[in-house]
Amino acid sequence: MPFFTNAEKPIGIASDHAGYELKQFLIGIFEEKGIPYEDFGAYSTESSDYADYAHPLATAVESGACYPGITICGTGNGISMTVNKHQGIRAALCWNKELAYLARAHNDANILSLPGRYLNQEEAYEILVTFLNTPFEGGRHERRIGKIPCG
Ligand code: RB5
Repeated sequence: MPFFTNAEKPIGIASDHAGYELKQFLIGIFEEKGIPYEDFGAYSTESSDYADYAHPLATAVESGACYPGITICGTGNGISMTVNKHQGIRAALCWNKELAYLARAHNDANILSLPGRYLNQEEAYEILVTFLNTPFEGGRHERRIGKIPCG
């Protein structure tokens, strides 16, 4: 599957300490392929709180400054819970490529959330490429995602 090459906006990426190493691996891919990105932290494996990095990333995706977003913590749960507090965010926790495909095709997910402690680099790469290359199907799913915001 070809890598995403027509990025119009920087990909936003954020993690905590538990997702830091996978974040750096993905950033290495972006740099190698010349894909624009914005790194919202964390900036080391020193213990940190995922919400401190997740909220600024979610704000950037909501405003259109970045698209899409990627969030990574140990399980992917805490950081996806945080970004999903933003009304314009549809973050999907994905641990295989089928989930990544459906998150885009059915949910028009604008943030991919990864469990850094439970994926190897090869798995994460496959999930990322699937997420970036899958279009939203629209149709009945458009109506459904329209009902997600609660405000
Ligand atoms: C950090 O130890 C861990 O709790 C965090 O990365 C994440 O998994 C929380 O949801």
